[in-house]
Amino acid sequence: MAATKFLNLPDGSKMPVLGLGTWQAKDKGQLEAALNTALELGYRHIDTAYIYENEKIIGDVLKTWLSSGKLKREDLFITTKLPMFGMNPDRVEYFLKKSLENLQMDYVDLYLIHFPIGFKFDMSTGRPVVNDKRQLVPEGKTDHVAIWKKMEEQVDAGRIKTIGLSNYNISQTETILKSARIKPANLQVEMHVYLQQRDLVNFCHKNGITVVAFSPLGAPSYNKVLQAMGRESKILPDILGDSVVNKIANKHSKTPAQIVLRFLIQSGVAAIPKSVTPKRIQENINVFDFSLDDNEFKELSSLEAGEKGRVHDFNMGFDLKDHPDFPI
Ligand SMILES: NC(=O)c1ccc[n+]([C@@H]2O[C@H](COP(=O)([O-])OP(=O)(O)OC[C@H]3O[C@@H](n4cnc5c(N)ncnc54)[C@H](OP(=O)(O)O)[C@@H]3O)[C@@H](O)[C@H]2O)c1
Repeated sequence: MAATKFLNLPDGSKMPVLGLGTWQAKDKGQLEAALNTALELGYRHIDTAYIYENEKIIGDVLKTWLSSGKLKREDLFITTKLPMFGMNPDRVEYFLKKSLENLQMDYVDLYLIHFPIGFKFDMSTGRPVVNDKRQLVPEGKTDHVAIWKKMEEQVDAGRIKTIGLSNYNISQTETILKSARIKPANLQVEMHVYLQQRDLVNFCHKNGITVVAFSPLGAPSYNKVLQAMGRESKILPDILGDSVVNKIANKHSKTPAQIVLRFLIQSGVAAIPKSVTPKRIQENINVFDFSLDDNEFKELSSLEAGEKGRVHDFNMGFDLKDHPDFPI
């Protein structure tokens, strides 16, 4: 089974199917080195977000590559995201401009609404509102259609090439599709061999929406994030230790990570594995010199575990599960 190296977006641009994730990568020296390694190895798709607090580091590295002439802006595919505390029609342009300033770019290739729930933000101080436990405070129901109109205006203004959604479910995506003048080009969701999101992917593909898989390796260091937030660790799906994945990896003389990434891109979606380790950065992009046959593909498909396989519950220490916009 073949796998394309790019997904075609509705505006005619092409998204490389293998990108570099950067969540939890904000140590300056480490991220700079990782980005330089990735760019040398041929990565051109970089995924960031305002809330990752690393856009400026990414912007600095890209500026060096662009000003040296080693890369042209059009060679790159840069995604960033409207933060949850920017989920208000009056804040879309404000946060996009902040991201562009950090990235030192005139436009981004893809701007996503990061999450369907909004959090309070105080424009007078320029800071998110926090409660006495220093936690963000959720807003009530969001007007998704009004926010989408503001996203479209930013495409018209030339600050974004394509717009999309992240962590939206089918019905939330449908709401946007019904009213959109510029349809979502992409949906980014958690997706890996244990959480294959088949209904969502089929729905997106039927509607001309490309899909990007986040946490494609199952976010093996997720518990470090929970610990840093003072939350209890959870049992994570051990995708890279899975016996079926390892059996297929041995057969191809590939690593488990390469097998699960190949599975995703052979399924017609893009994947954005995060790594700041040079050897892994290299490993993760070396997925175009082999393919999974029909039997292997079926075996990996059968690892689907549904909700039990989900890593990100997005409860963030609040009781978001009862929020009217909670997507899961
Ligand atoms: N839209 C959203 O809400 C959302 C949510 C989560 C993530 N994302 C995006 O998706 C990206 C990827 O997701 P993720 O970071 O959650 O998880 P992931 O890519 O599934 O896993 C990253 C972890 O795996 C390790 N790793 C990377 N390559 C490996 C390999 N070949 N073998 C073994 N371990 C390896 C990394 O360690 P080292 O870095 O130490 O090498 C890191 O700890 C994020 O970085 C972010 O850009 C988006």
